[in-house]
Amino acid sequence: MIKVPLPLILIIPSVDFMAAGLANAIIRVEHVKKIYKSKDLEYEAIRDISMHVNKGEFVTIIGPSGSGKTTLLDLIGTLDTPTNGRIFIDGIDTSKFGDDGLSQLRNRKIGFIFQSYNLVPYLSALQNATLPLMVDGLDNSDTIERAKFLLSEMGLGQKLEKKPTELSGGEQQRVAIARALVNNPPIILADEPTGNLDSKSAEIVLNMLKRLGKNNGVTIVLVTHDPHVASLSERSIYLKDGLVEKDTKTRKTKVRK
Ligand SMILES: Nc1ncnc2c1ncn2[C@@H]1O[C@H](COP(=O)(O)OP(=O)(O)OP(=O)(O)O)[C@@H](O)[C@H]1O
Ligand SMILES: [Mg+2]
Repeated sequence: MIKVPLPLILIIPSVDFMAAGLANAIIRVEHVKKIYKSKDLEYEAIRDISMHVNKGEFVTIIGPSGSGKTTLLDLIGTLDTPTNGRIFIDGIDTSKFGDDGLSQLRNRKIGFIFQSYNLVPYLSALQNATLPLMVDGLDNSDTIERAKFLLSEMGLGQKLEKKPTELSGGEQQRVAIARALVNNPPIILADEPTGNLDSKSAEIVLNMLKRLGKNNGVTIVLVTHDPHVASLSERSIYLKDGLVEKDTKTRKTKVRK
């Protein structure tokens, strides 16, 4: 057996990693494939995708219905596991974890925003925004202050005690953004977050997400089928039939402080 000194084993992968320009990657998708299987049917929703997202980037994933956008986002968010390939979150190989480990990884690293807000109807705006902290047993006064700060930053300072039914769609989505950011996660994953909103509310919600993301150094991956939404991001990854069709830089956007 050939003996390789331990330091060499540790150095070789990092050299490859640097050479590939991936040192700054917070999300790394390597040859990922997703096949949905039912009784006698198989459907290849993601055929072979490799890509990475750097720390602090705001990236949109765009493509027609059925192209695999939600599937890819769910895989990145470790809500589902790839059939083949590997996904690294902040350098961590997610294939090495079981359900409990993945759930802890998600709690620490990822905030989710969904099209349908997913707020708890009987909780107030403030309680909804602090929900991830309650789950972790971290809802102390400092973190509740952070939730209040985030809600106030989004113009909801006077609506902390309102229930979701007493809020507009745009306001509910702003509560969902506060909830996603309250744990200070390095990554936000958003699936069609403005899909249920009129264009004015959508613009407000997107600008707030961008501003808070930039101010907190958060990496944002946002799924949309709307080219206007994609044009507001720094980079757009186009999916077609489960493959990356193109990956383009969009214009540098100014962020209001
Ligand atoms: N659980 C599942 N079982 C079987 N097929 C699935 C499942 N989820 C998604 N698919 C199929 O995989 C493909 C990709 O679905 P996905 O939801 O990722 O598309 P999408 O790009 O998000 O579409 P949309 O814009 O309509 O939300 C679709 O053809 C879909 O029917
Ligand atoms: Mg979808």
